[in-house]
Amino acid sequence: MEKILSLKNISKKYQAKNGEIIAIENISFDVEKGEFVSIIGPSGCGKSTLLSIISGLEEKNTGNIFIDNEEVIGLSPKIGYMLQKDSLLEWRTIYDNVIFGLEVKKIKNRENEEYVINLLKKYGLYEFKDKYPTQLSGGMRQRVALIRTLAIKPRILLLDEAFSALDYQTRIMVTNDIFQILKNEQITVLMVTHDISEGIF
Ligand SMILES: Nc1ncnc2c1ncn2[C@@H]1O[C@H](COP(=O)(O)OP(=O)(O)OP(=O)(O)O)[C@@H](O)[C@H]1O
Ligand SMILES: [Mg+2]
Repeated sequence: MEKILSLKNISKKYQAKNGEIIAIENISFDVEKGEFVSIIGPSGCGKSTLLSIISGLEEKNTGNIFIDNEEVIGLSPKIGYMLQKDSLLEWRTIYDNVIFGLEVKKIKNRENEEYVINLLKKYGLYEFKDKYPTQLSGGMRQRVALIRTLAIKPRILLLDEAFSALDYQTRIMVTNDIFQILKNEQITVLMVTHDISEGIF
């Protein structure tokens, strides 16, 4: 198997009013290409901190991150990051939401737009492309958020409790959908959750 992501001795401290908080200390692990890794732990144990460090949005105090055996400093175009809140832009249509990342990265071209249109079609959202986020259900919104993240063709996807806002039944449905999408698109996934059953699933 091929190693895609490698973490070496990652630590992070936060300065708080009453002293330092060690959010994570000396974390090292490898993830292989195509693996689906669940990270489970109680609230406050440093899961979100770890993901935001991998994403490059948060700085680490010590350690190194390697993607495809190359050290990454800051943001990597190979990483997609999906948070608990879908943060769709309410004033943009579904289509304009899913191509948002392409616009930001200035990679909106015919090929990438066709890729997005195909994802919308494949996952039952194409007919909603001119609607607005408020007109969609929570599960549909999550799928839109996922397609927006996939639009930039990440090799590694970070999911931070991405489905916890959904009710149990919808979550089962959406996670099934989403796992299928991820498998089809051959993406390596690192998922954080405090829900043990979701992690096992
Ligand atoms: N910006 C910050 N400033 C100060 N302390 C922080 C900051 N962000 C996180 N922390 C602290 O770091 C620790 C880890 O937080 P983190 O958000 O990574 O936990 P978590 O495992 O994601 O928890 P949850 O399951 O509740 O989302 C906590 O003690 C938290 O209070
Ligand atoms: Mg968290």
